[in-house]
Amino acid sequence: MNKLVLTVAAASLLSLTQAQELEIFSWWAGDEGPALEALIDLYEEQNPDAEVVNATVTGGAGVNARAVLKTRMLGGDPPDSFQVHAGQELIGTWVAAERMEDLSSLFEEEGWNEAFPEGLLNLISTDAGTWSVPVNVHRSNVMWFVPAKLEEWGISAPTSWDEFLEACPTLQEQGVTPLVVAEPWTQQHLWESVALAVLGPDNYDALWSGELAFDSEEATAVWETFGEVMACTNDDAAGLSWQQATDRVVSGEAAFNIMGDWAAGYLTTTLGLEPETDFSWAASPGTEGTFMLLADSFGLPVGAPDRDATMAWLRLVGSQQGQDTFNPLKGSISPRLDSDPSIYNAYSQSAYEDYTADRQVGSLAHGAVANETFMSEFANVLEGYITSGDAAQAGAAAQELATRTGVGGS
Ligand code: GAL
Repeated sequence: MNKLVLTVAAASLLSLTQAQELEIFSWWAGDEGPALEALIDLYEEQNPDAEVVNATVTGGAGVNARAVLKTRMLGGDPPDSFQVHAGQELIGTWVAAERMEDLSSLFEEEGWNEAFPEGLLNLISTDAGTWSVPVNVHRSNVMWFVPAKLEEWGISAPTSWDEFLEACPTLQEQGVTPLVVAEPWTQQHLWESVALAVLGPDNYDALWSGELAFDSEEATAVWETFGEVMACTNDDAAGLSWQQATDRVVSGEAAFNIMGDWAAGYLTTTLGLEPETDFSWAASPGTEGTFMLLADSFGLPVGAPDRDATMAWLRLVGSQQGQDTFNPLKGSISPRLDSDPSIYNAYSQSAYEDYTADRQVGSLAHGAVANETFMSEFANVLEGYITSGDAAQAGAAAQELATRTGVGGS
């Protein structure tokens, strides 16, 4: 064989190897990793020739990963598939920019238009197609606590923010942080739970459809309650991750934490704690009967380097086996209508019941109701409010942002 033939042979061997590589991009690193790692293991078992590159950018809620993704997508260097929230983070961002491939035929082939609930299908579809495959449903409006500690401090889990504000001094007098918050996105996470409680589900929805203005009296009241609640939180929030905030509830430094149910994944999978005994939960104050949801999903970006391997990944992500492998470790539930709740722990079973029975609304901090620009820049509105304490100014800033980014059809 001469040198040229050898080079050609080596090149085609190389492209064969490269063709088998699948880059999955997400923010599920470290403590957040086990569920994704289990799904990747299953993929590699089913596709022995494939090698998955588990590309993660650390940082809760994807605050860092989303920025890296934006640079890569706009620079023409998309990963094969990436974690994206169902709803406006997908539709109002990547689909609007024509960066995703339509997966309608995959949904038809796999029977997923019947396997997934209609509400969720609506979050990943437009008239022109279906744009990602949901792997889970998480609940945002959950309050976490340790029952034995509450007993020790002589309080019960508040069912309204008024009740919480009453318990606040009792806890502070005992040297306990009433509510722990962490880095800025966790405060945005708290804000949406307060907004749901203050507005109720109809007006909360109306904010995102544009029927209720952010500078209305109703929406301004959200900031007022938010301010009172924030006065009962720790003052070292900025340096904490959501896991460290959760740790404070476990150790008894703090009484409550409002966090999505990835906290259940952390408490059970990472810390090995038992739901109902070592920790417990309730709907965030004033939101009983409403399930604020978000869903992580994966799609096929235009220009994905390895289309075939990505399609095999997406088939696994949406399958019952894939979802039953991923969700019990993650703290989320499978949205598939044929999923079996008995494989879950006590927390997830209760989430499953509420998911099927409750009114559903979408999360802001996790991409369901607003596009990526709005959700990122809302952090500035929030920071402005924390500095000024001026609810009317925050309402006006939020409305300006909504108008500028086209949220609520404005
Ligand atoms: C959410 C995501 C969850 C979890 C959480 C904390 O945005 O949907 O799966 O990863 O962030 O990082």
